[in-house]
Amino acid sequence: MSKGEWISLSDWRVLKLAETASTNTDAKELADQIAGEFAVWAIKQNAGRGREDRQWQSNPKSSLTFSLLFRPNPDELKHLSRFTALGALSLVDLLKDEYQIKAQIKWPNDVLIDGKKISGILLEAVWSGSEQEALVLGIGINLKNSAFANENELRFPASSLETAGVVVEDLPKLLEKLMEKINMRRKFLGSQKFIDDWIASLAFKGEFLPIKQYQGKTEMLCPESINVDGSLNARDQAGNLRIIQSAEFSAPL
Ligand code: BTN
Repeated sequence: MSKGEWISLSDWRVLKLAETASTNTDAKELADQIAGEFAVWAIKQNAGRGREDRQWQSNPKSSLTFSLLFRPNPDELKHLSRFTALGALSLVDLLKDEYQIKAQIKWPNDVLIDGKKISGILLEAVWSGSEQEALVLGIGINLKNSAFANENELRFPASSLETAGVVVEDLPKLLEKLMEKINMRRKFLGSQKFIDDWIASLAFKGEFLPIKQYQGKTEMLCPESINVDGSLNARDQAGNLRIIQSAEFSAPL
């Protein structure tokens, strides 16, 4: 991690770094050195991490890469699985309110525009012994198509805000606006409305697509709704309702 400067954005203390390996790793490392909640934002991230130990490729000026360190309050501790959607729903809010763009969420938390991924989110727990001390919510947003690898090498089709007609000139402003949406959404984390809004933004409802359950087989399932614990209700091709705790959807065939 390069030596950074602390700035303030939307009630968040933000460590702004010129370059780092992964803002999620930094936030986890800093969790027991810095009191309270904070964010780490890197202009250049050279070893970004994705779900399932994958790499997250990003390029400076083409990507926004940052992580928020949350210290959930007692009420939020009852809804930890919802933090995974907090970033995604807040980005959907931002795109709708600021740019009139309808984005959707590929369960659990990839943000799509026109069926292509423009943002990936990685939620990680910080442990102190057997106690969960904090949560790190890492968000990567493709601002331009140059943010990601050759499309043929990707597991799911990708796109960017630029392709959707959004040219971001003021990166701190974008980050600040997204943080404002996160602060707002967080107030309703435990509500049924939070789940209803997640369902309303769910991508591929009514469509069968391949889903790979972790350490399991790939099969065709159709997403229907989301339960209060964040699990997905999906229909299999025999018409049975299945409850999915953890899995990854591929692009429709
Ligand atoms: C995924 O789609 O698999 C999740 C990608 C998450 C990437 C972000 S970029 C900021 C933060 N730092 C990381 O190392 N990863 C997350």
